[in-house]
Amino acid sequence: MDLRGTFAIITGAAQGLGHAVSKAYAREGMRLALMDIRGDKLDELAAELRTAGAEALTIQVDLSDAGDTQHAIDAALAWGGTPRILVHNAALLIQRSMLEITLEQWQKETNIILQAGFQLCKAVWKPMIDAGGGSIVLLTSGSGTRGFVKEIAYCPAKHATEGLMKTLAMEGAEFNIAVNAVTPGAAIHTPMSEQNYDEAGRARWIDPAEITEAFVELAKQDASGITGKRIAARVGKLEILA
Ligand SMILES: NC(=O)c1ccc[n+]([C@@H]2O[C@H](COP(=O)([O-])OP(=O)(O)OC[C@H]3O[C@@H](n4cnc5c(N)ncnc54)[C@H](O)[C@@H]3O)[C@@H](O)[C@H]2O)c1
Repeated sequence: MDLRGTFAIITGAAQGLGHAVSKAYAREGMRLALMDIRGDKLDELAAELRTAGAEALTIQVDLSDAGDTQHAIDAALAWGGTPRILVHNAALLIQRSMLEITLEQWQKETNIILQAGFQLCKAVWKPMIDAGGGSIVLLTSGSGTRGFVKEIAYCPAKHATEGLMKTLAMEGAEFNIAVNAVTPGAAIHTPMSEQNYDEAGRARWIDPAEITEAFVELAKQDASGITGKRIAARVGKLEILA
C-alpha cells in the first residue's frame, strides 16, 4: 500500500517515540494530526515537517481530560478526514508507591493511557467502518503483561490497553479494522526513559527513530493482515510476540 496522501493521527508526538513515528510517517508522505500537551514542542516539530513538505496539524490537548480530548479528536477529523491509522502513543509514567499516590494522580495517568485510548478509538471507529477499514495502534509496554513496583497507575492502564486491543480487534474483523498493541522492542532513549531507566537500560538505549519501521508497516494493515497482536517494534522490523 502506498501511504502517500493518507492521514495519520498520532498522540504524544512532541517528543520521544511519537516524535520519531511522526517523522517516519511524514517521510512516507502522510498527512499528520499531531497531538500533545506540549504545544511548543509540537509547533517546532510541525515547522520542521512542513519545511520538508509535509502537511501537519498540531493540536495541544490534555489527554487526561475527556472534554479536551473530544475537542482534539473532533479537530483532527475535521481537518484530516478518516485516518488510515491512529497511533495512541501518549503516556505518563511517574513512579509512586501505593502510600504516595493520590486518586487524582492515579486517574490522570490512567486517563491519558486508557480513557483517551477509548475515546480516540471510538471517534475513528465509525469513520473507519464507512471507509472500508483502517488500522489502530495502541502503545503498550512490558508493563502491559507484568507488574512493576511503583507503576501503580501505568501498569494497570497498559494491561487494560492490551484488553482493549484484543476486544476491538475481534469487533474490528467484520469491518476490516486492524487493531494491534505495540511495545518498543529495544531500549529507547526518550524523556520517559531518562526519568525511569536504570544504568543497564541507559547503557543500551537507542534512538527511537531506529524502531519506526514497525509503525510504517502497521499503517498499511487492515483486518486481512496483522490484527489482534502484541507486537515488538524492533530495529528495522516488527516482531509478533503474541
Ligand atoms: N521509553 C520506553 O522505553 C518505553 C517502554 C515501553 C513503552 N513505552 C511507551 O511508548 C510510548 C512513548 O513513550 P516515550 O518514551 O516516547 O515517552 P515520552 O514521555 O518521552 O513521550 C510521551 C509523550 O506524551 C505526552 N503526554 C504526556 N501527558 C500528556 C497529556 N496529558 N496529554 C497529551 N499528551 C501527553 C508527552 O508530552 C510526550 O510528548 C508510551 O506509550 C510509553 O508507555 C515506552
